[in-house]
Amino acid sequence: MASPSSRVPTLREAFSLLAGRPARWLPQLCALIFVLWYFGPAIRGLPPVDLFNAPLPPPIGHPHRPPLYRPPTASADEWKLRAHQVREAFIHSYKGYKEHAFPADELAPMSGKKVDNFNGWQISMYDGLDSMWILGLTDYFDEAVKVIEQANYTTKPKQYVPFFETVIRQLGGLLSAYALSGEPVLLQKADELGGMLLPAFDTESGFPMYAISTRTNATRSSWAGSASLFAEVLSNQLEYKYLAHLTGKSEYYEKAERCMELMYQANITDGLFPTRWNTRLGTPSNNQFSVGAFADSAHEYLLKQWLMTSRSETKIKDLYLRASKSIIEHLLYVTPDRDILYVTDAEIREVHQTTAGITDLPISATSASLPTISSYPSGNFEHLSCFLPGLLALGAQTLDLPPSEKEMHSFAAEGLAYSCWLTYADMKSGLGPDMMAMRLFQPNVTDGLWLPKVQKWKEQGRRGRPPGLREPGPASRKRDYTIYKRTYLLRPEALESFYILWRTTGNPVWRERGWSVFQSIQKHAKTELGYASIMDVDSSSDKIPVKDEMPSYFFAETLKYLYLLFTDEEIIPLDRFVFNTEAHPLPIFEWTEEEKKLYNIS
Ligand SMILES: *[C@@H]1O[C@H](CO)[C@@H](O)[C@H](O)[C@H]1NC(C)=O
Ligand SMILES: *[C@@H]1O[C@H](CO)[C@@H](O)[C@H](O)[C@H]1NC(C)=O
Ligand SMILES: *[C@@H]1O[C@H](CO)[C@@H](O)[C@H](O)[C@H]1NC(C)=O
Ligand SMILES: *[C@@H]1O[C@H](CO)[C@@H](O)[C@H](O)[C@H]1NC(C)=O
Repeated sequence: MASPSSRVPTLREAFSLLAGRPARWLPQLCALIFVLWYFGPAIRGLPPVDLFNAPLPPPIGHPHRPPLYRPPTASADEWKLRAHQVREAFIHSYKGYKEHAFPADELAPMSGKKVDNFNGWQISMYDGLDSMWILGLTDYFDEAVKVIEQANYTTKPKQYVPFFETVIRQLGGLLSAYALSGEPVLLQKADELGGMLLPAFDTESGFPMYAISTRTNATRSSWAGSASLFAEVLSNQLEYKYLAHLTGKSEYYEKAERCMELMYQANITDGLFPTRWNTRLGTPSNNQFSVGAFADSAHEYLLKQWLMTSRSETKIKDLYLRASKSIIEHLLYVTPDRDILYVTDAEIREVHQTTAGITDLPISATSASLPTISSYPSGNFEHLSCFLPGLLALGAQTLDLPPSEKEMHSFAAEGLAYSCWLTYADMKSGLGPDMMAMRLFQPNVTDGLWLPKVQKWKEQGRRGRPPGLREPGPASRKRDYTIYKRTYLLRPEALESFYILWRTTGNPVWRERGWSVFQSIQKHAKTELGYASIMDVDSSSDKIPVKDEMPSYFFAETLKYLYLLFTDEEIIPLDRFVFNTEAHPLPIFEWTEEEKKLYNIS
């Protein structure tokens, strides 16, 4: 009789034997699961699961600090499809403009009416010209060039054209389309237009007047009175200097540089360049500091002039360093609850400390004889200011900054870009409001200043994310701000910064955020004839009322930055081009030795 142990057990017996000892099965079970998981996809013909994350390029400026969140990002094919959808959006809106509004400036995308809100010189076509080239819409491009060949920039009797807008949109559009396509007539027309606008600079100081009649050369000031706005004084140098380089006409360089000279000479505390300047004297005329509407592009043109002329004009770089340092010191704040980093405008006064007891914030004062600066922030955060994170990121990447400063610029860039994104993510429409009133610290508003908080964070051993970079999630209640202007005007600034952040950090989260914005534009802004501004970004309605307008910068900037953001290939490499403030890319060039001598460039 055989012993029970030498007999092969039946299946039923085997189970009952093992039932009490599952631990013996565990390793085999785990191995089986692993094999199925690891080789399963290969068996089904799919690529194997990547066990290790593919290394992504470290964020520039702070490689030790991985970003908080990297979303699973779309495949290359998906991005191609997304870029294609942007191209479709351009075709949809440009077709609407061409069929219903041309040769007027803009289309009213609801009523289909023509709008001449600029010079009546087809501003949508000029602004969209380089985008057509970039998107490969050659039929539209060629057609536009034929119209431009016939252009006559003589104003009608009594008509005045705004200098700033005409330079950044029309002249910038011509120059960048010329740079991309090499079409000679575009340069010829840029030269013609640039020359006709030049008498705007014929003021006592050399600052340009607000508007000019190219028929009589008469000029006019704006509603702002006799003052010049900082943005208007310093947003023509990229265009005119490139034009000078292309044509060899020194007056283009000289007139534009004259405005720069007045900036070098101005007695500016720190780098605080105020919003208003005296047109006659060329001197500062108020104490308001901002990177919003009245000042925005001036800051861009400091860094970008230096970059465009191959970093030869170092005086301009120094102005940018001073200005950006002051912005970081005086205009960046965080909110009390959600730690949202934002840039605001402020009235900043110098307080001469004669007696003890002045409690104003001592930012730069080192001795009693030096002026103390007192800051009164408004707490307003404009959508227009959302270009700033992109600019700071570009500066952090290109300037030869000491590591600690580079880090501050990068921190500010990333924190601000996130805040711009957050104002979109917080809204029911997924689109950001035009202006927010941020909650200030009470009772001392300057307790919200960002810089001292970061310094404290550093001193305390850099625990956790730096202040202003903690990336609070979207919130529907208790937002830490109120919406001050509820519209979304198809503006590009947030997308512009997402694009620059994507290119400078390599973090695909910026592309995904841009994609989310584009989907909201598709959902809420698309009309039968084009795209329209949104009246209330926080409306829960499925049909949010729109404004009957489609600004030309939608063609020049919004759609261009979206397309570039979704395109893998860097069509406009940041080391070969700078974008003017209307997103018209101008090539980086080197002054010849002759030019350097002629213009006294050092
Ligand atoms: C533009 O039109 C004006 C008349 O309005 C004319 O005097 C001038 O010669 C024209 N310029 C060109 C370049 O055709
Ligand atoms: C306007 O100024 C230009 C020089 O920029 C000059 O060639 C032209 O003759 C002037 N026109 C009038 C009407 O004064
Ligand atoms: C700036 O200050 C210096 C010295 O105080 C003075 O000589 C110069 O004229 C001032 N410049 C302007 C534009 O006011
Ligand atoms: C502002 O803060 C300072 C110190 O941070 C304090 O001494 C001062 O009393 C505060 N001012 C007000 C108005 O609360």
